[in-house]
Amino acid sequence: MSLFLSIAALFLLGNQHSEHMHEYVEAARYFYSLPAELPANTTAPKKQAPLFYVNIPVEPRFRPNMRIFHTSAPTLTSTGTKLIALTFDDGPSKKETPRLLDILKTERVKATFFVLGKNAEAHPEIIKRAFAEGHEIENHSWDHKDLTKLSQEQLLKEIRQTDEVIERLTKRIPLFLRPPYGTLNKALEQWSTYDLVLWSIDTKDWQHHDSTYIQEYILKHVKDRDIILLHDIHATSVDTVSTLIPILKEQGYTFVTVEELLSEKIESSHKTLVIQHG
Ligand code: NI
Repeated sequence: MSLFLSIAALFLLGNQHSEHMHEYVEAARYFYSLPAELPANTTAPKKQAPLFYVNIPVEPRFRPNMRIFHTSAPTLTSTGTKLIALTFDDGPSKKETPRLLDILKTERVKATFFVLGKNAEAHPEIIKRAFAEGHEIENHSWDHKDLTKLSQEQLLKEIRQTDEVIERLTKRIPLFLRPPYGTLNKALEQWSTYDLVLWSIDTKDWQHHDSTYIQEYILKHVKDRDIILLHDIHATSVDTVSTLIPILKEQGYTFVTVEELLSEKIESSHKTLVIQHG
């Protein structure tokens, strides 16, 4: 019965966001119209948006092309609202992530989790909870290898394995890949089926383990449309969030997920690409 309800809910959500789906269906059609083999260095002309066509034989996905976001939202026009995206990497952590989710729930703030596939596999209930509570779950590779040092086959495995776990647990295809260490190369740009998302504020929280320092660093550098990099595997980082959010709210910031920040779809608090599993 609950399975039936889940499927019914997916259909309803799917219909609700049919406009959103449309873009992806169009994109998928475009993918199929591409020639079977593209030259190795095929890129979009320079003056257009920075698109990199995915080469063959990547399995068809809803994201046939990709953009690279090095910092905060380069393609946005101003909406007059100060936006900020909190992002948490390397989790989920059995101990710290649920504590973070409690804080985010209390503050009614949505965040983006760039999870490791192996940790998602180990803690499926945390991924499900985070997604159910409106957070975005994105891909941070399987086990945090430097993707630029891998063969094409290894690289695809790192991405796809993680993709599969996230998709199985959330029924949503991740939209973004954040490569471990933020390292990029041409192979990754060509072979990733995702938009690559880095960050604009790096607190180096993994190095400092000092919640006061992390908070002061963020408050000193924060600006509209920043993507803040934190790690939900460190207690001090989670501690920071509980005191940081009220201050940023007071300064007029609205918290959004990365998808919301980059797509300007902030009117709806929770837009999700729902896919149907047959
Ligand atoms: Ni990481």
